[in-house]
Amino acid sequence: MRVAVFSTKPYDRQSLTEANAAHGHHLNFFEARLTAATAALAAGYDAVCVFVNDQLDADALAILAAGGTRLLALRSAGFNHVDLDAAARLGITVARVPAYSPYAVAELAVALILSLNRKIHRAFARVREGNFSLDGLLGFDLHGRTVGIVGTGRIGEAFARIMAGFGCQLIACDPSPSDAVRALGAQYADLHTLLSAADIVALHAPLTPDTRHLIRAETLALMKPGAMLINTSRGGLVDTRAVIAALKRRHLGALGLDVYEEEEALFFHDLSAHGIDDDVFARLVTFPNVLVTGHQGFFTVDALRNIADTTMANLTGFTQGSGPAHVVPAPVPRR
Ligand code: NAI
Repeated sequence: MRVAVFSTKPYDRQSLTEANAAHGHHLNFFEARLTAATAALAAGYDAVCVFVNDQLDADALAILAAGGTRLLALRSAGFNHVDLDAAARLGITVARVPAYSPYAVAELAVALILSLNRKIHRAFARVREGNFSLDGLLGFDLHGRTVGIVGTGRIGEAFARIMAGFGCQLIACDPSPSDAVRALGAQYADLHTLLSAADIVALHAPLTPDTRHLIRAETLALMKPGAMLINTSRGGLVDTRAVIAALKRRHLGALGLDVYEEEEALFFHDLSAHGIDDDVFARLVTFPNVLVTGHQGFFTVDALRNIADTTMANLTGFTQGSGPAHVVPAPVPRR
């Protein structure tokens, strides 16, 4: 099958090429992001393979369909960047990688918590400068603290297991509670109760119309003064301007982000010689109690291998007529 692979970095090309050895697809790698402006590059390809910051809106999908694309293979679990209604209308099947390593993302969330709490990022810089002062590096024991988990699917459960191991109290909210998370001692509650009880709030819910700006001025006000917020899910869950205001008021104690609302213009690019044009992001990273990573939750060798293997299996399933194993169903129309 001829596949146009967008938003590829050297590590993607390597893992996809290795996985393809057992499948024999014709992969053509493009560095460009897929948007309506670049979609014409895929003309003549049966399948298009994309990542999290590609923009599969109705315009881009119409261009893909006109060029002969029948399968959209996402190299991600999240599919908030795809207009599923338009894809269904245009006869494009959408497949994804539902679970490639929940541990990779959960472990990064924990790394952000540990770094922010014990100020590892600041200590690293100080020691290199020959500054061994401990002023400003005071942390707290995680043991006994209450951790709120918003979304206890695959990643939320893996995260819950680690935090239970630290001796934390777990409080969770999810419209579909998990028995496995309950068995770890977690209490389920509504979002408001969770926010007012937790010392650390970690977001592991998908971005949907219902979860967009789940964390905004009103919900931030419910959080304990000095609490920590961690988002490794999708940037749109958090109203960035509202968290900046909460940080300025010293209400929010610490913020760890692996995702950002407007990350498409920033993440996965080297802008070190160019500078950052996004003033909101630039303000965010001035706070000493904010730690941002550039969407690297998925970035482990294990996860890359699993993403590549599942993507190839999706492509092969489609060519063999059995269909990709992991189809994203078209949404049921709202009445
Ligand atoms: P999942 O589908 O296994 O779990 C998501 C859970 O969120 C489900 O249990 C669902 O019921 C729950 N949920 C939905 N709406 C909710 C709401 N309003 N409040 C609370 N819970 C809600 O998904 P998984 O694999 O755990 O991934 C979670 C998210 O992590 C993905 O949607 C994706 O956006 C993000 N992600 C980030 C990565 C990174 O590199 N930073 C990599 C992979 C995923």
